[in-house]
Amino acid sequence: MKLACVGDIHSNYKALEACLEFLDANRYDGILFLGDYVSDCPYPRKTIELLKQAESRYPVWFIKGNREAYLLDYHHKPHAYWRNSSHSGSLLYTYENLRQSDLEWFSTFPISRAVHFDRAPDIVICHGSPAALRENLFPDSALSDYWLKTVRTDYLICAHTHKPFEYVKGDQHLINCGSLGLPVNGQTQAQFTTLDLVHGHWQRTLVSIDYDIAGILKDFETSGLHERASVWSMAVTKLLTSGRNYPLDCLHLAEKMALRDNPETDLRTIPERYWYQAARLLGVI
Ligand SMILES: [Fe+2]
Repeated sequence: MKLACVGDIHSNYKALEACLEFLDANRYDGILFLGDYVSDCPYPRKTIELLKQAESRYPVWFIKGNREAYLLDYHHKPHAYWRNSSHSGSLLYTYENLRQSDLEWFSTFPISRAVHFDRAPDIVICHGSPAALRENLFPDSALSDYWLKTVRTDYLICAHTHKPFEYVKGDQHLINCGSLGLPVNGQTQAQFTTLDLVHGHWQRTLVSIDYDIAGILKDFETSGLHERASVWSMAVTKLLTSGRNYPLDCLHLAEKMALRDNPETDLRTIPERYWYQAARLLGVI
């Protein structure tokens, strides 16, 4: 038996297209999807359509990511601070390009879930951690040890940091499946994780495949996303061609500079000039 663990697509439907072609060609038996399906790249409905296709062809398991939670929160109670800007323009664009039925679909996804097969070790999947969508799990950390002890299954699969790893503690494995659409581990291919059932154990392989990066970059130009999300959107394109987390680096630097000038700055509405300064310093623009 062979499963694919696919996380952090972030609307990169070109990467998802290549991944599904690879899964078809290599006879996978099921797909565990680990959240953050949309936002950051253009045309989110194209990703939804591919996810629905995957659902019709494979046994699939979905959980929620923090991006889906943000969109659902906004749907229930729109915030005044979401506007066309580097901070929230990408999320607002994504929200406006989804259907009500897409959000209803996301709302059915749990935060974590157990995946069970006969004669195979149980697996728990989560986005950040089993209780928090934005918790970061890393190898050999007290938090990772806590969650391994708490879930008690031999395999806990997470995503969210976009940095794949396998951490083994005793008989237990904590695996980050990597990011399909926005990898930040210094390479630019689409990444996901394969679990092969070998002698009663899940054997992990990190898979990296080529996809149409030029195509997704072109979509940024035609979709109007750069106009909606300014520096954030430009930083995402820089990430796609470098494997470095430029959007997060820009955010942190912009926050730091804004707080230095005014410690009372509302971090949800940092003036754009700080984003542009950060982008220049980091070589994004
Ligand atoms: Fe995430």
